[in-house]
Amino acid sequence: MSKRRIVIANWKMNPERLKEARALFTVVRKKAQALRRTTAVVCPSFLHLGALARKREAGNTFALGAQDVFFEDQGSHTGAISPSMLKDIGVRFVIVGHSERRAIGESDEQVAQKIIAALKVGLTPVVCIGEKERDQQGGFLRAIESQLHLSFLGVPRARVARVIVAYEPLWAIGKTATAAVTPEILQETALFIRKVFVSMFGKAAGFSIPVLYGGSVEDTNAAALMKDGGVVGFLVGHASLDGATFGHILTVVDSARI
Ligand code: PGA
Repeated sequence: MSKRRIVIANWKMNPERLKEARALFTVVRKKAQALRRTTAVVCPSFLHLGALARKREAGNTFALGAQDVFFEDQGSHTGAISPSMLKDIGVRFVIVGHSERRAIGESDEQVAQKIIAALKVGLTPVVCIGEKERDQQGGFLRAIESQLHLSFLGVPRARVARVIVAYEPLWAIGKTATAAVTPEILQETALFIRKVFVSMFGKAAGFSIPVLYGGSVEDTNAAALMKDGGVVGFLVGHASLDGATFGHILTVVDSARI
């Protein structure tokens, strides 16, 4: 059985103008129409998300995502965006625990609360985890394991099947394809992540959790990472800001044999 593939465009704090965001959005949505077994998810800034959102996106090959969400659904929280607000405007996915947010103070505990809050309203959380660096002694595996344990603390077993994990090693983010993880390392790490999930949530949930890779995915390394990396898609940063490049990544993922 072929698994559903997912490619997420994390636009971060780009582009500067709404007009550019609209143009890129239109290109990606059009490219997504040709996909057969892949969902392309575009995550603009909150501001642009509001302007680009449509309540119902036709089909299953294109969806809207947010780059973050608040962990409470109601109350007086200045500057915050709730899961229900996202859901209401047609957002289906939300990135949670991105390393750039963790770097400015987001804790594992908050990540867990955000996952729980997103799941409650029916959003699909895309949970980012990944080590800062690789050491010879395998300390990075302990780091991944502990991040998974703490970030999923209290997430109900019954809902965990709706979560996506994005493995994003910090040392590979924001570089070029040559600095990305190799397919072999990715495959080993994806397997390790699944094992940890099995120990936390049981065999069925552990083995079926979709694992994505993020960190300098470009049109030049996407095919090899898909073929041998043991993942069902990517979380793409800088390469998602160019319509043609991102379109190529979508085609590669859609046609890969996995
Ligand atoms: P990058 O970003 O593709 O630019 O490395 C990935 C990410 O931070 O999600």
